[in-house]
Amino acid sequence: KDVWRCWRQLLVLMLGFHSAVDFSVCSAFLSFSDRVFGPNCSTRQVYEEGAKEVALSVVNGINSSIFAYGQTSSGKTYTMTGITEYSVMDIYDYIEKHPEREFMLKFSAIEIYNEAVRDLLSHDTTPLRLLDDPEKGTTVEKLTEETLRDKDHLRDLLGMCEAQRQIGETALNEASSRSHQILRLTIESSVKQYLGKGKSSTLVSCVNFVDLAGSERASQTASAGMRLKEGSHINRSLLTLGKVVRQLSKGRNGHIPYRDSKLTRILQSSLGGNARTAIVCTMSPAHTHIEQSRNTLLFATCAKEVVTNAQVNVVMSDKALLKHLQRELARLENELKLPESASCTSHVEALREKDAQIKKLEKQLRELIEEKDTVQSQLNCLLKSDADDHANDRAAKRWVLSL
Ligand SMILES: Nc1ncnc2c1ncn2[C@@H]1O[C@H](COP(=O)(O)OP(=O)(O)OP(=O)(O)O)[C@@H](O)[C@H]1O
Ligand SMILES: [Mg+2]
Repeated sequence: KDVWRCWRQLLVLMLGFHSAVDFSVCSAFLSFSDRVFGPNCSTRQVYEEGAKEVALSVVNGINSSIFAYGQTSSGKTYTMTGITEYSVMDIYDYIEKHPEREFMLKFSAIEIYNEAVRDLLSHDTTPLRLLDDPEKGTTVEKLTEETLRDKDHLRDLLGMCEAQRQIGETALNEASSRSHQILRLTIESSVKQYLGKGKSSTLVSCVNFVDLAGSERASQTASAGMRLKEGSHINRSLLTLGKVVRQLSKGRNGHIPYRDSKLTRILQSSLGGNARTAIVCTMSPAHTHIEQSRNTLLFATCAKEVVTNAQVNVVMSDKALLKHLQRELARLENELKLPESASCTSHVEALREKDAQIKKLEKQLRELIEEKDTVQSQLNCLLKSDADDHANDRAAKRWVLSL
């Protein structure tokens, strides 16, 4: 019996089955502006309406990622295989329609199996190390990156990945993905007319197609031994993914535990960085999967709130970069000159003013010294005449006495 149906691209809950489960999150999901696709919808329709725009951002220099998230056997691999195929066709279609641009496509593929990273384009199964690059973020060491000759070359490589990927039979899915798979297509493009003429700049971006392993309950998948171990790794990394998405949905203030799993480390920029991301959440309508469906809806509700910061990624040729830097240098010099010359003028004026003040003060000092000298000489004269008068007085007295 089904617990939900899709009606006019809205999720409709079938009452009577959810009494034991808190479905408050579903009412929020009902108001999603995003599309809800029913079981009869084709993957083409899911791609056209839910993923195409994001996937094709890559041809304009914007990083993008398409994820499939959901419980085991709900159709992630089925959907992602279709979406990858349609995206590749549209990307090559775009390339054919833009002969004025020179395109270079590179492809790489990894799987994360029991927390070990493996190159799907190599037969060597040695786990690869993750490196932290200050510019590129987390990268996979020694990962094969094939430069694509054409569409058919890419199809061959996709076939190789499918053959190499870890799958296993469980009670719920006879070809259950036991690993997370990340297929990466990197596209570089430049305008042919400017190539080698010193003006060229190159757009470099990549699109990730991510098919996660499904969350599962050991009791439902009847896992034991190796399957149980795989299942616990799968659930742990999906739990970290859920934590990262929940934390990002609240903003970027707190600690975001990207480093708690290889999956979130590798997908860090797709989750909350320089990328556009579309997430396809797959759910089984079966009543027996009601708890898993609820968890998927919770994840979807949080993921919808996450804001990424996608930018056009431009790499310049050496000549173009040199020209750009020269222009930038000239601009900065001009900027520096203007305020500096203004302050220079004001300094010179201030100095002139001070000079004039000093000269004025010097003149006043000279005048005061002259005045002082004059007064001094007048005083001397007075003192001298006073002394003369006394001498005359005494002479006169002596003369009177002698009479
Ligand atoms: N839209 C669909 N139409 C027809 N068949 C489908 C559809 N989606 C899934 N299936 C079938 O359902 C089965 C399970 O699907 P799939 O393997 O894609 O699930 P999954 O979510 O990837 O599971 P797991 O997490 O175990 O890898 C497959 O046999 C697949 O062919
Ligand atoms: Mg799968």
